[in-house]
Amino acid sequence: MRIILLGPPGAGKGTQAISLAEEFNLPHISTGDLLRQNVKKSTQLGLRAQDFMNKGLLVPDELVTDMLAQRFKDPDIKNGFILDGFPRNIHQAKTLDNILKEANTGIDAVIYLDTSEKVIIQRLSGRLVCKNCGQNFHKTNMPPKADNLCDKCGGQLYQRQDDKEATIMARLEVYRKEVSTLIEYYEEKQKLYRILADEEAGIVLNRMLQLLKERRDSLKV
Ligand code: AP5
Repeated sequence: MRIILLGPPGAGKGTQAISLAEEFNLPHISTGDLLRQNVKKSTQLGLRAQDFMNKGLLVPDELVTDMLAQRFKDPDIKNGFILDGFPRNIHQAKTLDNILKEANTGIDAVIYLDTSEKVIIQRLSGRLVCKNCGQNFHKTNMPPKADNLCDKCGGQLYQRQDDKEATIMARLEVYRKEVSTLIEYYEEKQKLYRILADEEAGIVLNRMLQLLKERRDSLKV
């Protein structure tokens, strides 16, 4: 099963991708996480990407598509993947189609997490992330058991640089510019499924699981 999670910053793509990946035993591939790992290690890619990310802008296509093509060479993706954060524009969507075509495969479904702006801002401004393992929390929606410590590994929690209010608005602006073209692209291919995503994470996950169950045959799940 090859699934893309599409949606605005803060829609819950990362949160839901982790649950879907566990449920279906598939790798979760997040371009945001891959880029942040590169920034942390100060790789050439990380050094070039950092400034774009801090400003809430898209990292140039060729950097991200090369990084993804490299990740797709790993053997763990042979049974599928949950892709989160890619594609962000039509050029990336077409590049992804080409990468998959070369492997004689394609996308099964694109799940669009439809989220209101009020919810997005509340989620992003309260997000906390573990410095060590990358686990997401939220100050009020999903608080850690101990203040500022990760439930999973005990690592320190921090606020992402791009979750400051001004950068959130810049990210939303970038997202709005590109999203309608992407939605049309996948609608034309009859791959797009909309899920209302303002509610709590468990409810949204159940909606996705129900959809995937209903579409099991056509999605080859
Ligand atoms: P990326 O990391 O992909 O950021 P994003 O798309 O802006 O998405 P987020 O990670 O902010 O949100 P999410 O939808 O995953 O929400 P989450 O589950 O964390 O990208 C960062 C940057 O990298 C980009 O700005 C760009 O510069 C660069 N980049 C990445 N990919 C790129 C590409 N393809 N091309 C070019 N540049 C690229 O949830 C958010 C919060 O809400 C959490 O605190 C969570 O606990 C909480 N929450 C989640 N769901 C719920 C729920 N249902 N109810 C209550 N709380 C919830």
